[in-house]
Amino acid sequence: MIKHCLFPAAGYGTRFLPATKSMPKEMMPVVNKPLIEYGVEEAIQAGMNHMAIVTGRGKHTLMDHFDKNYELEHQISGTAKDSLLTDIRSLIDSASYTYIRQREMKGLGHAILTGKELIGDNPFAVVLADDLCVSQEQGVLSQMVALYNKFRCSIVAVEEVPESETHKYGVIAGEQLKDDLYRVDNMVEKPEPGSAPSNLAIIGRYILTPDIFEHIENTEPGKGGEIQITDALLKQAQQGCVMAYKFKGKRFDCGSVEGYMEATNYCYQNLYLNQNSKSQPKIDQPNKGLSPV
Ligand code: G1P
Repeated sequence: MIKHCLFPAAGYGTRFLPATKSMPKEMMPVVNKPLIEYGVEEAIQAGMNHMAIVTGRGKHTLMDHFDKNYELEHQISGTAKDSLLTDIRSLIDSASYTYIRQREMKGLGHAILTGKELIGDNPFAVVLADDLCVSQEQGVLSQMVALYNKFRCSIVAVEEVPESETHKYGVIAGEQLKDDLYRVDNMVEKPEPGSAPSNLAIIGRYILTPDIFEHIENTEPGKGGEIQITDALLKQAQQGCVMAYKFKGKRFDCGSVEGYMEATNYCYQNLYLNQNSKSQPKIDQPNKGLSPV
C-alpha cells in the first residue's frame, strides 16, 4: 500500500511573478482552492494519509493552510460560511502533514531527496502541484496506485505532447506493453528541439520505490546544472524497472498563465458550479451575524 505522498514545493514559481513574489505558487487559487489542495485531495482519494511537503523560505502559508485557524473558525462558527471549510477540515483530519525545508534549489531530484527523512523506506507518490489533474473516473494517482500494486516498480505518468513542446519536459521512450503502458528504456530531461526520443512527456505525477533515493544520491547534476529526477529514474530503469503510464484524464500546466486560466475555467464550469449549486451557501445572502470582512 502506498501511504506517503511527497509534494516538492520549494520552487520560486518565477513564471508567475509578480503574483508569486511573496506567495508560494502552490497557494495560487484555482477558483476557490489553492493548487496544493487539489493535489492533496487526489492523494487522499488514492488512499494516502501521510503528506510530506518539501518547503522553502517564505512558504509558511502552506503549513498554515493544513492547520486550524482558530480565530477565523471562531468568527464564522454558526454562520452560513462555516460550511466553506468543510472540505479542507476533512483533508486535515484525513492525513498527517509533515514538512522539511530545502535550503538550496538544486533541482527536482534534490527536492525529492530532501524529503527522504519524511518518507523512510516506503514506496511513495510525488505530486507536482502546478500540474493540476482532473479525471471523470478515478484520479490519476489512484490509477497509478492500481498499476503499482500489479508491477511494484516506479511509475511515471506521461501524456503525448506536440514535438514543439518536448523541450519543456522529461521525455521517455520504451517498449509499449499495452495501449497506455510502456516499459521505459530511455528518458531525457528537456531534450533539445528535434532530439526527443518520443512525444511522451512526463507530467507531475510519480510513484517511486524507495531505492530511488540511492539513485538520486549517485546522480550528477544534469540539465540546467540541476539534479534531475529523470536522470535518477533512467538509472533505476536500466537496473530494474520503470513504467510509463498514459493516464486517463486531463492535466493543466498551472505553472503557465495559459494553463492556469484553462484550469480555472474548467474547474469553475465542471467542479465548482456543479458542487456549489447544491451544497455551498450563497455567500452574498444575508448571513447570521457574521462580521463584515
Ligand atoms: C519537472 C521535471 C520534468 C517533468 C515536469 C512535469 O520539470 O523535471 O521532467 O516533465 O516537471 O511538469 P519542471 O516543470 O519543474 O521544469
